[in-house]
Amino acid sequence: MAPPRPTARLLTLAALTALTAATSSTPDCRCFPTDPCWPSPADWAALNTTVSGRLLATVPIGSVCHAPNYDAEKCKALQGTWHDPAAHDESSSSIMAPVWAAQSCDPFTDPSTPCELGNYVRYAINVTEPADIAAGIAFAKEHNVRLVVRNTGHDYLGKSTGAGALAVWTHHLKNITYIPAYSGAANWTGAAMKLGAGVQGFEAYRAADSYGMSVVGGECDTVGIAGGYTQGGGHSALMSRYGLAADQVLEWEVVTADGKHRVANRKKNSDLYWALSGGGGGTYGVVTSMTVKAHPDVVTSAARLTFTHDGSAEMVEKWYDALDFFHQMTPLYTDRGAFSVNVYFTGSFSLGPWFGPGLTKAESEELLAPLVAKLDELELPYTYNMTEFPSYLSAFNDMFDYISVGIAQYGGRLIPRKTVLENREGLNKAIRGIVDTGSLIFEVTTHPTLEVAGYPNNAVLPAWRDNELNIVVTIPWNDTAPMSKAYADQKTITNVWDAALREIAPDSGVYMNEADPYEPNFQKEFFGVNYDRLLKIKDKYDPEHIFYAITAVGSDRWMVEDSGRLCRSG
Ligand SMILES: Cc1cc2nc3c(=O)[nH]c(=O)nc-3n(C[C@H](O)[C@H](O)[C@H](O)COP(=O)(O)OP(=O)(O)OC[C@H]3O[C@@H](n4cnc5c(N)ncnc54)[C@H](O)[C@@H]3O)c2cc1C
Ligand SMILES: *[C@@H]1O[C@H](CO)[C@@H](O)[C@H](O)[C@H]1NC(C)=O
Ligand SMILES: *[C@@H]1O[C@H](CO)[C@@H](O)[C@H](O)[C@H]1NC(C)=O
Ligand SMILES: *[C@@H]1O[C@H](CO)[C@@H](O)[C@H](O)[C@H]1NC(C)=O
Ligand SMILES: *[C@@H]1O[C@H](CO)[C@@H](O)[C@H](O)[C@H]1NC(C)=O
Ligand SMILES: *[C@@H]1O[C@H](CO)[C@@H](O)[C@H](O)[C@H]1NC(C)=O
Ligand SMILES: *[C@@H]1O[C@H](CO)[C@@H](O)[C@H](O)[C@H]1NC(C)=O
Repeated sequence: MAPPRPTARLLTLAALTALTAATSSTPDCRCFPTDPCWPSPADWAALNTTVSGRLLATVPIGSVCHAPNYDAEKCKALQGTWHDPAAHDESSSSIMAPVWAAQSCDPFTDPSTPCELGNYVRYAINVTEPADIAAGIAFAKEHNVRLVVRNTGHDYLGKSTGAGALAVWTHHLKNITYIPAYSGAANWTGAAMKLGAGVQGFEAYRAADSYGMSVVGGECDTVGIAGGYTQGGGHSALMSRYGLAADQVLEWEVVTADGKHRVANRKKNSDLYWALSGGGGGTYGVVTSMTVKAHPDVVTSAARLTFTHDGSAEMVEKWYDALDFFHQMTPLYTDRGAFSVNVYFTGSFSLGPWFGPGLTKAESEELLAPLVAKLDELELPYTYNMTEFPSYLSAFNDMFDYISVGIAQYGGRLIPRKTVLENREGLNKAIRGIVDTGSLIFEVTTHPTLEVAGYPNNAVLPAWRDNELNIVVTIPWNDTAPMSKAYADQKTITNVWDAALREIAPDSGVYMNEADPYEPNFQKEFFGVNYDRLLKIKDKYDPEHIFYAITAVGSDRWMVEDSGRLCRSG
């Protein structure tokens, strides 16, 4: 069974609208596994034949921890790897976000309870070519089955999963081609890389590095580079220098709802190109590849810096002073192309790491010198180490620690430079309220203006262009806690912490890939002024709305019932 709570809360407004509409007409729902309309075994077998035996029936990876498949050794091993993205991204169904996995089949619940499919997809097509995708779309249309586009399963908002769904799984589209001098339809004559939809960050970085190049990708290198990451914007340690991931795209290849494999660039299907470049994954079509700018590699200096307090009232004040000082300095860093991930909670602040692509050690040290002097002046304990690396990849591999998954609930907001500089008191008060009540904040410092990005014409949320801090608030999650705690924590994020951030930056927005799934007014917050235009493009390429993903463009026309069934909302 799907967990009733999150869907019920997510869709309260939509559900109300639907209720009033439902009195006159029956809601139009996708066929659910318990419905008589669900495809027969023979139907599924026929699909399997069409896709050359590449149809997978979901067996959740957690099934080894539950009767009747319980296997003590395998279960223990899974408990050990459950927080490693690789445990999930190699699976055709597993997802990382606890609110969506919802303990329906996880390694930490009572082994005598059954393993349930819950929000996991029922079937997945292990895609090798566009025809597999077209077959999946055709089947979903013919049988009125919910369709999901799945790549790695990293999505925090549950966009790559769905109860009773068929997934097209793009993970094995791993082709990478290097293009030394791009000559396609774009204002770009430099090098480029064509990346299959299943290529992950680490594969793209290694390939680029072997040609003396770098490409913009995430700090977590298991994220799929051409999937939800780039389509939703994509932040990167290189982005204060080159722009967001979506700003790098020269061309997409995509299978649209009519089953056609299309090219989308500035000349061909330019509306689709515009939408896919920042307008969010999982809703306009299934991308099979993207071609992105490759940048000549540069010397990269990078730092780790941590300062702490011992909990005494005096030190706590000093620690917040240092945090405020750091925030005031960030425009100096980001204007030089630097970027940082700032991880902080009561008692500890870490630049984990600070990244200066194109900056020598001396240049970076000069930028951080005032902060270091401030820490000395405040007599706060700190550690600091700036290192210069010959390439982006060598810096990346040394500096980015393993990122665990399934360890928290998330929310957040983009905080513009103007707010940081002109409403310092408001910012400090909001942050302090959040930190003092138990959040671990992951914050990204970056300023990817249009100028930095080379004036691309795309659907990136405009608030990114003014951004200084992408604040991501998290509440740590304990595997053995009941799901009710996860939902309660998510509610705190929506109603208290995100509300405090909304108040200081009401006209900004939220990064759709690192957001609260229950963000009110997600249309405005995730897509800004682009929403209406994106919806028109969605309707043009997917008139039957075969693609649905929670909080994606057009998703407000649907609701997920408590049972997990997907229905039109009115
Ligand atoms: C540990 C961790 C670290 C992260 N680090 C970063 C980071 O550094 N920077 C950053 O910006 N974000 C980061 N994210 C967020 C990340 O961008 C999102 O989770 C993103 O949705 C992942 O995309 P994916 O394709 O890998 O994942 P999935 O969960 O498989 O898919 C996400 C969405 O994209 C859609 N999609 C996937 N493939 C395709 C396709 N081929 N065609 C059309 N739609 C598709 C899916 O339908 C879904 O809507 C991180 C997330 C995690 C869990
Ligand atoms: C699809 O066919 C292959 C090859 O015959 C088989 O191994 C696989 O189990 C089938 N998938 C399903 C869902 O039946
Ligand atoms: C999916 O297909 C790839 C080849 O494209 C293969 O290597 C892999 O084992 C398949 N995965 C599953 C789970 O069948
Ligand atoms: C990937 O590359 C191989 C070898 O060049 C090619 O045969 C195949 O068609 C490519 N696959 C896709 C999906 O482009
Ligand atoms: C491409 O370059 C031309 C000429 O320099 C310029 O007029 C145009 O605005 C550019 N377009 C984009 C999308 O960058
Ligand atoms: C500083 O960091 C670099 C890179 O991680 C490491 O090689 C070096 O040993 C560190 N120096 C100190 C003094 O910790
Ligand atoms: C999680 O909760 C259990 C039981 O309440 C407790 O024993 C354990 O220490 C907690 N783990 C963490 C990491 O907080």
